[in-house]
Amino acid sequence: MATALASLTSLARVTLAPHPTPIDSLARLRSALGPACPALYMKRDDLLSFGMGGNKIRKLQTVLAEAIASGADTLITCGGLQSNHCRATAAAGAALGMRVVLVVNGVRQDRPTGNALLDELFGAQVRYASSPDERASMMETVAQELVSTGCRPFVIPLGASTPVGAAGFARGVEEILAPGLRPDVIVHASSSGGTQAGLIAGCALYGLKARVVGISADEPSDALAAIVRGLVEEMAERLGGSRAALGANRDVVVDDRFIGEGYGVPTEGSREALTMVARHEGIVLDPVYTAKAMAGLIGRIRGGEFSAAETVLFWHTGGQTGLFA
Ligand SMILES: Cc1ncc(COP(=O)(O)O)c(C=O)c1O
Repeated sequence: MATALASLTSLARVTLAPHPTPIDSLARLRSALGPACPALYMKRDDLLSFGMGGNKIRKLQTVLAEAIASGADTLITCGGLQSNHCRATAAAGAALGMRVVLVVNGVRQDRPTGNALLDELFGAQVRYASSPDERASMMETVAQELVSTGCRPFVIPLGASTPVGAAGFARGVEEILAPGLRPDVIVHASSSGGTQAGLIAGCALYGLKARVVGISADEPSDALAAIVRGLVEEMAERLGGSRAALGANRDVVVDDRFIGEGYGVPTEGSREALTMVARHEGIVLDPVYTAKAMAGLIGRIRGGEFSAAETVLFWHTGGQTGLFA
């Protein structure tokens, strides 16, 4: 285990956000949820001090070190028109002096909003795909075009959810140990799997027993759990640890009951969660990922899943720019 942890901590990374993010107690939300509510804390990755923050910054810190080591001068990645990952990559490219080409599914807005506005502000070039299925092949085409003009492109897969990206996220677990927090459960929004894989591996490597519960923003539970499990196994290979040392024998819990009608479509529960957290804590969730994840946490609390003696950490993965899309 020491070897895999040593590989994790020595994995090359670019420091985009140098400070640990705060952990806030959600005392007013807890009392609003009644006497059986567990102690609630929030890890504020929405406040990561780079490019408007969010979970993608942690994954990009390690993936970008790989890109730089490969000699790349251009980053290519993909997502939806309002992708947080694309916006974070655009910001990173700007800060590192690298060209960024984003392949997004959607149509160019006359007056770009939210992340699309920030993509332009950070100077990224945007190409439009007609569907999510077209993005991977379009990224390859863009890469070939760039090579033929003498550029050195590096393709970052969707969400930077590679074993190296997930390892970047795993490092974040160290930040909850320093203040002495030992949550029984960590709840967060899950979609391309890198955050959840990173949290599972990070908990295993840093000796935290917390159960990690991913609330899906779009994918069915079984499919996403399989992606997360695969990423944890690949991380074990990459870091040179046994699968068990990386937590691959732990249950992968993905809950798809809070998606509602689909990705980005608000539900009654997500609207309630967004409003409750804003009005009790002055904290802003995002409509696509974290409000649904908080709806999942509230649903589980109301369903009596936790005791008042337990501690739950909600990992805020950012995305508030989605409120202005
Ligand atoms: C704000 C936010 N939270 C959570 C997620 C899910 O993270 P992951 O793709 O690593 O599962 C994403 C990205 O998809 C996101 O943008």
